[in-house]
Amino acid sequence: MKNVNIAILGLGNIGTGVYKALAMNGAHIASTTGLDITVAKIFEKDTDRDRGIDVAPSLFTQDEGDIFGDPAIDIVVELIGGVDFATSLMFKAVAAGKHVVTANKAALAANFEQLTGTAEGAGVMLRYEASVGGGIPIIGPLTTSLLANRYEELMGILNGTTNYILTKMTQEGRPYGEVLQEAQAKGFAEADPSGDVEGEDLANKLSILMSLVFGKRVLPSDIPTTGITGITMDDIRDAEKADCVIKLVASAFRQGDGAECFIQPVLLNKGHPLASVNDEYNALYIKGNAVDDLMFYGKGAGPLPTASAVLGDVIEIGRAIG
Ligand code: HSE
Repeated sequence: MKNVNIAILGLGNIGTGVYKALAMNGAHIASTTGLDITVAKIFEKDTDRDRGIDVAPSLFTQDEGDIFGDPAIDIVVELIGGVDFATSLMFKAVAAGKHVVTANKAALAANFEQLTGTAEGAGVMLRYEASVGGGIPIIGPLTTSLLANRYEELMGILNGTTNYILTKMTQEGRPYGEVLQEAQAKGFAEADPSGDVEGEDLANKLSILMSLVFGKRVLPSDIPTTGITGITMDDIRDAEKADCVIKLVASAFRQGDGAECFIQPVLLNKGHPLASVNDEYNALYIKGNAVDDLMFYGKGAGPLPTASAVLGDVIEIGRAIG
């Protein structure tokens, strides 16, 4: 059995999900992978909140030195969110020789080359499967088994909160505000849900995909983006009359040597493969010139599905390190 010590930065929705998933499946992971994954430290100032998990108080720290200065910690799992502070912590982790796992699409989209390049230069692994599509393995295949392809186009429903809202408005006729609150309560939304409904979260994810799929660096703020705040029940009913549904879709396609991308609510005929992607489910359609059409589908938001991707990255690193 190989011991792998992780430090979790941020015990919010996703951090709590990772802790729960490890409590639920740690023994199973050990038996299937030979890795005994231990949460050695949790960097978090809110130590009193009832999260429905049993955390020894000694695990909590607010001292970065307890994480980056501890040679026993192998992997830093960054789940704080936001850009600047989270990015600085990831750089510190890399400088300390720690491998990094993150779900932070905002930080990655803002500093993609800097983070990936610095980690590579330092000889440590940076993994970010949970940053796009929650529990769906997307980054892994794109960076390994699909590398033989040149891509032509992609279309994705990659924000669980907005997909949940649009689904409930469509199927249950419930008002936007009520359903948004429900999505927040279920742990799908960002700390500031305006990032979800205005499309910023999706722009972060599309920015990451543009780098991986088309090798093109596009800042999220440069992606033409329309969110769902302007969608009314009348729009939903009109779509229904036309045998369509409204979905918030990220699109990108190759153009010459480059690629173009945009985000907007789209009317999809009910027969379209993406039209039946409902609730917090996400899907990514992508077309490669060798593999042809591919669809990835699964839960794109929520603590446990996201924890599945985070822990998958931890396991990958755990297996790779001596
Ligand atoms: N707020 C995000 C969403 C979380 O709703 O998709 C997962 O990235």
